[in-house]
Amino acid sequence: MRIAVIGSGYAGTTLAAGLAALDHDVTAVDIDPEIVSSINAGEAPIHEPGLDQLLSEHAGQNLTATTEYAAIRDAAIVFIAVQTPSREDGSIDVAPLRGAVQSAARTLAEESHRDDGHVVAIKSTVTPPQVSALRDEILEIAGDAVHLELAMNPEFLREGSAVEDFLNPNKLVFGTDASLARERLEAAFTPLIADASPAVIHTDPETASMIKYANNAFLAAKISLINDLGNICKVFGIDAYEVAEAIGTDDRIGERFLRSGVGFGGSCFPKDVRAIIAASTEAGYEPSLLSAALAVNDGQPDRMLDLLERHTTPAESRVAVLGLAFKPGTDDIRNSRSIPVIEGLLERGATVIAYDPVATKQMRERFPDIEYARSAREALDGAGAALVLTAWDEFAALNGAFEEMSDRIVIDGRRVIEPQDGMTYEGLTW
Ligand code: UGA
Repeated sequence: MRIAVIGSGYAGTTLAAGLAALDHDVTAVDIDPEIVSSINAGEAPIHEPGLDQLLSEHAGQNLTATTEYAAIRDAAIVFIAVQTPSREDGSIDVAPLRGAVQSAARTLAEESHRDDGHVVAIKSTVTPPQVSALRDEILEIAGDAVHLELAMNPEFLREGSAVEDFLNPNKLVFGTDASLARERLEAAFTPLIADASPAVIHTDPETASMIKYANNAFLAAKISLINDLGNICKVFGIDAYEVAEAIGTDDRIGERFLRSGVGFGGSCFPKDVRAIIAASTEAGYEPSLLSAALAVNDGQPDRMLDLLERHTTPAESRVAVLGLAFKPGTDDIRNSRSIPVIEGLLERGATVIAYDPVATKQMRERFPDIEYARSAREALDGAGAALVLTAWDEFAALNGAFEEMSDRIVIDGRRVIEPQDGMTYEGLTW
């Protein structure tokens, strides 16, 4: 099938490469010429395990990138995976997405090379009322010139395992209004449906959008709930991980996403929860539980700093921050919990030396004036305290490196460090 993907961020590039791996003819469209050349050279524009390999196998074969919208003229499905940035009040700015949807609809209305119609499938996360507005717009642009159907096909990929998640989805959600979109979307993913047997959910576009928000809101709230319970455990001197392991055996609760600590970051959970709260509030309902989930998450970095202050005066200390990425496996620092922690350390007058295996460059742009180490060992050398913010495997293997600290105070926000003799070790929720 001929497929176009507009927007080559982490979701769009993974989708384009993944669809090429399913043997479709894929055109990736992005306004950034550097991203386009990178894809055409078979190199991933972002750090995502397995993506380079897929791109190098398919670029120049059945995957081409371009800055030209005209390339979508013969696409059976045009996926739109354009960013939807947050506004100050938490709502999302759909202007870039609207621009892409309108350009796609206009190109198809004026220059379509197919007489059997096109499906415009939105991958970007947009609220149900915004989906309705986008449908009205594309149908108006299409008029009688071309048959267009809007679909909503939300994305459930996790950063750091996006390629693997694409190839082994646990569910596919197809939000469609009519049969053409339904049939084409199902056909595009047929090889995955056959191999990975995901749940296939057919619904309307607005419900598909709500499924995406509900999925992320539920997981974010689950993390905040275990963090809230974990904070109770800490004040009672109880290990929250032992409690989580026990309650996780109840399959109504489930064992996953019960890792308590410094909280969730990334481009999705914080942003999507704020966006659905803003959209719902505008429509007349204020979701108090979701607001509480954000409040608990915002409080976790402060709790880490409070624990540090129990053992040392940050202003007199050189503090190693281990882990800058919002989670292991990615160089993404968006909403990383390390950001409020570094801010808090600087406010308290600490000298900060930070280390991350892949995200140093990104954090240097955010905090140009702190020190950065080339290894965790170098960060620990002479440090009076260490805060662990990302669960990179290499931190679990540091062992003797802690002996190089001037004072062995370790505050662990991710439960990755094994406490050692002579170490003052504090877990955030254990
Ligand atoms: C999340 C969802 O998991 C994906 O299904 C979704 O497609 C994606 O958002 C999106 O909307 O695009 P992602 O943000 O990549 O994916 O990362 P997760 O693995 O879900 O982790 C998010 C944050 O929660 C990380 O900071 C992680 O450290 C934290 N977390 C996760 C915990 O603190 N505890 C846990 O038990 C699990």
